[in-house]
Amino acid sequence: MNYRHSYHAGNFADVFKHVQLTLLLQALRTKESPFCYLDTHAGTGRYDLQGATAQKTGEYLQGVMRFWLRDDVIDDVALADYLAAVRVLNPDGELRYYPGSPRIARHFLRPQDRMVLMELHVQDAVFLKREFRGDKQVHVHCADGYTGLKAFLPPPEKRGLVLIDPPFEDGNEFERLTDSLRIAYQRWPTGIFALWYPLKDNYRVQHFHRQLVVSGMRKLLLAEMHLHTHPPVNTLYGCGMVIVNPPWQMDEKLRALLPCVLAGLQPGGEGKTRVEWLVPE
Ligand SMILES: C[S@@+](CC[C@H](N)C(=O)[O-])C[C@H]1O[C@@H](n2cnc3c(N)ncnc32)[C@H](O)[C@@H]1O
Repeated sequence: MNYRHSYHAGNFADVFKHVQLTLLLQALRTKESPFCYLDTHAGTGRYDLQGATAQKTGEYLQGVMRFWLRDDVIDDVALADYLAAVRVLNPDGELRYYPGSPRIARHFLRPQDRMVLMELHVQDAVFLKREFRGDKQVHVHCADGYTGLKAFLPPPEKRGLVLIDPPFEDGNEFERLTDSLRIAYQRWPTGIFALWYPLKDNYRVQHFHRQLVVSGMRKLLLAEMHLHTHPPVNTLYGCGMVIVNPPWQMDEKLRALLPCVLAGLQPGGEGKTRVEWLVPE
């Protein structure tokens, strides 16, 4: 396991993923009954953007930094709510810390809600446990996230969201993702699942989509953001999210939100977004 998210924290892919996470959690909050948030590949929960790893790549400069201090031009509610979650870690107005998915989710949890976090990297799991030490609503496990899905689903709350956000270090990650989703869906057919994936190898992405289409699962919404109109070969040129059982009107909300995200990330107007049903109801 070589992947360390601290090199990439706050980059364009994190912005894309975390604004959608915000939308999904906001939808879950519309009902009073408790929900459970599960994060299979949680990371450390908080990243120091002044640290050596983030500074080495500077990826956050083309990501979250493009939205920071631009409240005046942000009129999308989900984008504003996402930035509010980032601001909580940076109360003095300087962008120093970036919240990973667990910290963003924690921001939207109510007293009746709960979250379960899994992280396989031993050192990152230690950081994650430290981040949420003493927080009774947060359960951290140093464990394989795919195995954890079998152990923790369905949650007693019966309502909630699973974020599956693997590093895609291994050539078979798309297959593992699809197989694990199939099993998780059987255990919890009404749960919301959000699966992040990179846009780099078109063949693999198309194969992934086809496998999902023939899987028998229903209500699969696809959202993609392409940063370039003519992507360079063999580079990460965008990313996507497949949402299983999306909340009501998620498709319309994403069609409004993603162009705002892209415009913030690519002020020159390059790229495109795509929101469509991979499998309808
Ligand atoms: C893309 S990062 C996660 C970022 C995080 N979800 C966020 O949005 O802030 C992927 C994480 O998965 C961890 N990881 C890799 N393989 C794993 C596995 N099989 N189970 C759980 N965690 C894993 C890595 O150590 C890394 O921290």
